[in-house]
Amino acid sequence: MIETIIEDYSLKNLNTFGIDVNAKYFTVAKDVETLKYIVESCKTDGIKTLILGGGSNILFTKDFDGMVIKPDIQDVRIIFEDAKYTYIKAGAGIEWDSFVEFCVNNNFYGAENLSYIPGTVGASPIQNIGAYGAEAKDIIHLVEYIDTEDNTEKEISNSKCNFGYRDSIFKNQLKNRAIVTNVIFKLSNTPNFKLNYGEIENLVEAQGEVSAKTIKEVITEVRKLKLPEPKEIGNGGSFFKNPVVDNQVAQKIQANHPDMPSYPAGIKTKIPAGWLIEKAGWKGKTVGNCGVHKNQALVLVNYGGATGNEILQLSKQIASDVYKMFGIEITPEINII
Ligand code: EPU
Repeated sequence: MIETIIEDYSLKNLNTFGIDVNAKYFTVAKDVETLKYIVESCKTDGIKTLILGGGSNILFTKDFDGMVIKPDIQDVRIIFEDAKYTYIKAGAGIEWDSFVEFCVNNNFYGAENLSYIPGTVGASPIQNIGAYGAEAKDIIHLVEYIDTEDNTEKEISNSKCNFGYRDSIFKNQLKNRAIVTNVIFKLSNTPNFKLNYGEIENLVEAQGEVSAKTIKEVITEVRKLKLPEPKEIGNGGSFFKNPVVDNQVAQKIQANHPDMPSYPAGIKTKIPAGWLIEKAGWKGKTVGNCGVHKNQALVLVNYGGATGNEILQLSKQIASDVYKMFGIEITPEINII
């Protein structure tokens, strides 16, 4: 089915930062065939394309001089079950949290810690979204995508996705080449809860019952308390990745700052960027129309009317101050367009 193509379309309500930019062309694709058709037509006509998921991890610094495509594949179905696992195929356009809810309501386990993360199913493998000790890679079995190089449908198994911390093949070798259409998840038929992240265990136990439902409720509450609601204050969640540094670097900082939180990351150490930014004095600060959130320094916010460039400049200033103070480079996890 050929969808409507709209010219000069405002993306303000399609990015959670609420940045007021236009796409030269905009369209929604409800199935794989339509997506392939649009991509092929744009290629023929020399029009560049941008795939937009939930718009929760993107900072627009200018109008997009091409076709913004919103994949809206919404099917979800169980494709296979064995004694241990249930395999579920979910369309790229499904809201991530609706998918988590579907799993929790049907007693498919493994997605509950990833509750209330903004965005879509299609973005989950790209970013390898993660929270509270779990990552999308723990439950992704296979990713189906369109390879825009030859406009064919392909699939890639979990082990070939090169998943890392907020990283995957889709951000590297397949960057600007793969359009995720469906993700096949492998959920466990029996619970194996991960509660050892921060305050989560106590909060869940205080509910009187440890279940996927209570974990979902607790994590949703914690996220709502800590992170600003994009509908109220524009933001894209964590702006920076937590830096992973050599152990000696972390130990050196810890010697001067015994309160520094840190997590082991393989043979290295991960330091929360929010802590570094707070120590550099940026937490809660406002610059023009944007600023650093008061409850979570990792989150940059648009108080209304900020341009993408204002937010980008603010992020550079913060990164520079963190570097001056700690000698550590923090890099955006947000895609800057
Ligand atoms: N911290 C501070 N000051 C701050 C923020 C955090 O000192 O302003 C300290 C906290 O006290 C804590 C540590 O940093 O000791 C870690 O904080 P938190 O548990 O809030 O998590 P995070 O490292 O800041 C990461 C993810 C979040 C995810 C949470 C929970 C990244 C870049 N971010 O944040 O993901 O929700 O863990 O698992 O890894 C997102 O990607 O948009 C996102 C929100």
